[in-house]
This record gives sequence, structure tokens and C-alpha cells, in this order.
Amino acid sequence: MKKIPVWIDTDTGVDDAVALVTATHLEELNIVGVSAVSGNTSLENAFRNARDVLALVGRKDIKVYPGSDRPLVVPLRTAAHVHGQNGLGGAEIPLSDAPLETMKAWDALYEAAKEYKGELVVCPIGPLTNIAITIAKHPDIVDYIKEINMMGGAADGGNITPCAEFNVYVDPHAAENVFKSGIPVNMFGLDVTLKAYLDDDDIAEISSYGNPVSDLFRDSNHLIYEVRERLHFSGLAEHDSCPIVYTAHPDWFEGHKCGIFLETQGTITLGKTVTDLWTDFKYKDRHCQVFLDLQRDKFMNLIKEAYRSH
Ligand code: RIB
Ligand code: CA
Repeated sequence: MKKIPVWIDTDTGVDDAVALVTATHLEELNIVGVSAVSGNTSLENAFRNARDVLALVGRKDIKVYPGSDRPLVVPLRTAAHVHGQNGLGGAEIPLSDAPLETMKAWDALYEAAKEYKGELVVCPIGPLTNIAITIAKHPDIVDYIKEINMMGGAADGGNITPCAEFNVYVDPHAAENVFKSGIPVNMFGLDVTLKAYLDDDDIAEISSYGNPVSDLFRDSNHLIYEVRERLHFSGLAEHDSCPIVYTAHPDWFEGHKCGIFLETQGTITLGKTVTDLWTDFKYKDRHCQVFLDLQRDKFMNLIKEAYRSH
């Protein structure tokens, strides 16, 4: 089977860690590289966490590159209330002893995209800062990236404000640059990721597997439990695993072609991903897809299988 070359850009928080564990379990994927970006937590934490999670699953061969420590324009806003001070909900895992990569994310991603000659799939699961910088510094990269399968945005609603999802809100200007680049974007926003949830039985099952990887899952989610209680939301949404699993199993997801444009001037609406999905008006430029549904059972069973396998 010809593996799909994938680049993951992450702000390595709690659900990012689940996405990395799941990605390394998917035999369909060839993870060419990983880059870290500030968002859920500082760049320093995101970089260390990505290295350490990959080492924990036995994949310290996958190189991790440092990216941006702040958004393009607005000040950095993190989410320690959800992901803890260290980005992994306070869970402690062994430090990776893999060599420290010093090449910047935007240069490493560019080299990888050229190497895979138009086949590389880029999966941002944090703010889009690194991707936007890559496009600005190396404009010809648009010819080398097959598609961007991203976690972020929402055709309807928001989580960090009523209008905006966290990843896009943290760096709306970067998101605007990426959506305007012309690279096909598959947007896995809250519309679908809130349906990609682990229920209490799923959580208990994974937490009971008794291996170091499932122990990380068990020990890192407690802050999210508190947030979801306040929101009266019963599930544990695995936002970041959606674009990863889609890349290997596109038939498990339901997408709709549309145009997506970013609100970067608003105050109340800053960071809203405006789509023409549910309107008679249609944008001329419609090179995106918004995803609205998934086959949750298959998705959840894959995540459980990934944690059981260690
Ligand atoms: O809104 C959910 C997104 O914000 C996820 O990527 C999560 O990791 C946080 O970064
Ligand atoms: Ca993330």
C-alpha cells in the first residue's frame, strides 16, 4: 500500500497528543515531519510535548521542528485552563532524547513539500501561524502541497467566542492567508469535531488499558472534564484527530464544497470562518470543504485501538 505523506503542525495540547498517538497508529500514513506552534501552550511546551509524545509511542524517528512562538499580528492567547501549564494537563512523561532539530518549521515544511512533489498533505491542528509563514516565505509551496486538512473554524458557532473557534481565533490573520492561498482546504471545524467525542465509557476504557500511552490519556484530561461539566457537554471531543483520521479514511466523513473567508476586522466576530454553505449567495472562490459529520463508531474504535496497541 502506498502510504500518504503527511506533515502535522501542532500546538501540542491534550487532544493534539491523542491525534499524534492516532496518527502514528495509522498504517496508511507516512508522517514526514511534525512542527510545533504556540497556541494551547507556549512554543517551548508544544515543541517539547510533540517530541516527548512521539518518543512515548516509539516514534522518535519522526523529526519535530520549532515554529512560531506568537501569532502574526495579535498577541498570543493560550488555553492553560484546558491544557494545563505544561500543555498536557500537568501529566508528566519522559523527555525525548532525540536530537533537537533547529531548522525552522517553515523551512523544513517547504523542503518536505518539494521532496513529495505535490503529494504532501498538511494537517494543521493548532493555529495556522507556521503554515502562513511558510506560504509567505516560500510562495511556490502552493504548487507542492496537495491539500490542507485542518482542525479549526466553524461554519456555525464557536468555542473561544460565540463566533470563533480557538485555533482560528488565536491567529485569524494567518488563517486568512492560508484560506486565500488557493491550496485546497478541508476544514474540520467544531461542526464535525464536537460530534467526534469520547463518552464516559470510552474514557474509562482507554484509561484502563494500563500502558504508558493510555496512562498519559488518563492523566491529561482532567481539566477538560471540568470545562465540559460547566458547558453541560457530556463528551470529550477529539477535535485534532478528525483531520488526521480523515486523511487515512476520507469515507468516514461528510464534507460540503464551499467558500470560506475570514473575519479579521471584527471585534465581536473576530476569527469567524464565514462560509457560503447555507446561503443562496455563493462565493466565486469555493476551493474548500466544510465537514459536518462522521462515522463516530469507526472513529472512536480506531482511537481505542491506537491506545490499546501499546
Ligand atoms: O478548538 C479546538 C482546538 O483548539 C484544538 O486544536 C485544541 O487542541 C485547541 O488547540
Ligand atoms: Ca490543537
